Amino acid sequence: NVNSSVTDKAQFNNTYEATMNYGAEGAGGIVVTKTLNDRSEANNTFLFTITGENEEDTAKLHEEDLEFTHGILTSGVPNEMEKLQQLYEGKAKKVFATNDPEKLIVEYKDDATAFNGLKKGTIKGKGVINNQMSNRLMAYLEKQGVPTHFIEEINERETIVKKVSIVPLEVIVRNISAGSFAKHYGVEEGIVFDQPTIEFSYKNDELGDPLLNHYHALALKLATMEEIETIEKYAFKINEVLKAFWLSAGVTLVDFKLEFGRLPDGTIVLADEISPDTSRLWDVKTHEKLDKDRFRRDMGGVEEAYAEIMKRMEATLK
Ligand code: TMP
Repeated sequence: NVNSSVTDKAQFNNTYEATMNYGAEGAGGIVVTKTLNDRSEANNTFLFTITGENEEDTAKLHEEDLEFTHGILTSGVPNEMEKLQQLYEGKAKKVFATNDPEKLIVEYKDDATAFNGLKKGTIKGKGVINNQMSNRLMAYLEKQGVPTHFIEEINERETIVKKVSIVPLEVIVRNISAGSFAKHYGVEEGIVFDQPTIEFSYKNDELGDPLLNHYHALALKLATMEEIETIEKYAFKINEVLKAFWLSAGVTLVDFKLEFGRLPDGTIVLADEISPDTSRLWDVKTHEKLDKDRFRRDMGGVEEAYAEIMKRMEATLK
């Protein structure tokens, strides 16, 4: 006669924790938290024993019956997920195969580069911040109707993502002049545009990611016209969502770079990362830079800026 419903489940290092409301329905009941160290040995079953005044009740709950309310797991590779061989090492991340052909594990590094790898360095703690920030922003975007590759965060630096075939385009959205825009067109940084701009570059390190337009992308067969239209639609939507989000955190979203991928069925989803490495983020009032430009331009206070932007994101998401 255990009236049970599991309301919360979190995972820590292969330890599963479930909280059960026990007692009369609507009466609040007793909340019991149970930790299971090894799901596989215990047959993925949580055994709850509640000792009442007169009796001892036991409830056996299978994992599938647990209501999962934590969107982001905090640590531990799920038992069934195996990290296999490294497929790729980029400038800021490593990508690993898993035993599931449709899923990959991404590992974020503290390595930083700029100017197509000419400048190299380390930003201590960056991998942790970029992993967590990217995951939280992608989860937020999903809620607003933008599909992403994000599946599950497994620890501070590692995340399970959907395997996609990357569309070799870097998609850059700008709200304010800065960086290469200011340089190319001979204008100062900080000019607020009446409407956002979008540009594409060909994701190709050997060529230095050259700028290109729709027609070039079609000629090079990098994407179809339909895919480009979908990508543009999502990129502007992401800009509206993130601009509002960052504003509520006291931050101006100046510009950012996105990458998209194709799922096996051809669906376009947001991939790669959204982080201070790939965005320009300025304090609304002081215009202080809270992003990778501090590293690119040797401004100092790099780690502090990453910590500050992370702190603001967390305070805003609460
Ligand atoms: P840009 O002004 O140098 O073209 O950069 C525009 C935005 O794109 C900025 O937020 C930084 C980001 N970005 C990347 O994420 N990767 C890159 O390789 C470059 C050049 C820029």
